[in-house]
Amino acid sequence: MNHLMIDAYDEFENKWALVTAGSLADHNSMTIGWGGVGCIWGKHVATVYIRPNRHTYSYFEKNEYFTVSFYPDSCKKALGVMGSKSGRDCDKDAEAGLTAVSCGESVTYAEARRTLLCRKLYWQDMELDRFPEDVKTRYFKSEPAHRMYIGEIIDVIE
Ligand SMILES: Cc1cc2nc3c(=O)[nH]c(=O)nc-3n(C[C@H](O)[C@H](O)[C@H](O)COP(=O)(O)O)c2cc1C
Repeated sequence: MNHLMIDAYDEFENKWALVTAGSLADHNSMTIGWGGVGCIWGKHVATVYIRPNRHTYSYFEKNEYFTVSFYPDSCKKALGVMGSKSGRDCDKDAEAGLTAVSCGESVTYAEARRTLLCRKLYWQDMELDRFPEDVKTRYFKSEPAHRMYIGEIIDVIE
């Protein structure tokens, strides 16, 4: 596996990323702005947070693998589409102009400059009553709390 050098603050918060689960024939992806990379249980991992009302959530539940992929600035508009439309209602890949490609047991996009192929290790639902008040007011007035997924990074494709 390539050694992973990643500025996670910049990649998630400023540049955004896509998470994808499923097969080439049947996958779904969405934009994320929250996430991280780190280590636990002697493994290198990526952690992402997905609300249960996302179409992508059902793909995360059905599949053992997922990808986290990062893009050049020229794809920012496409990431905006992937983060505002739902795969329930349209062909998001086509609307965003992104080209899905196989990535091990999962899927990423030809336009990605880096993809983390992850195998689900652990998940947990975040509990609203443990959130700081300001976070609750700002992000959780109407939408449900996220499910956190920790995936072991089994490959880095660049
Ligand atoms: C910059 C940005 C960051 C986002 N981050 C997250 C996130 O970390 N978790 C999440 O559940 N939704 C996040 N979203 C919202 C989803 O990307 C959005 O609801 C998307 O349309 C869901 O698509 P789907 O229904 O096809 O899964 C973000 C959206 C944007 C634009």
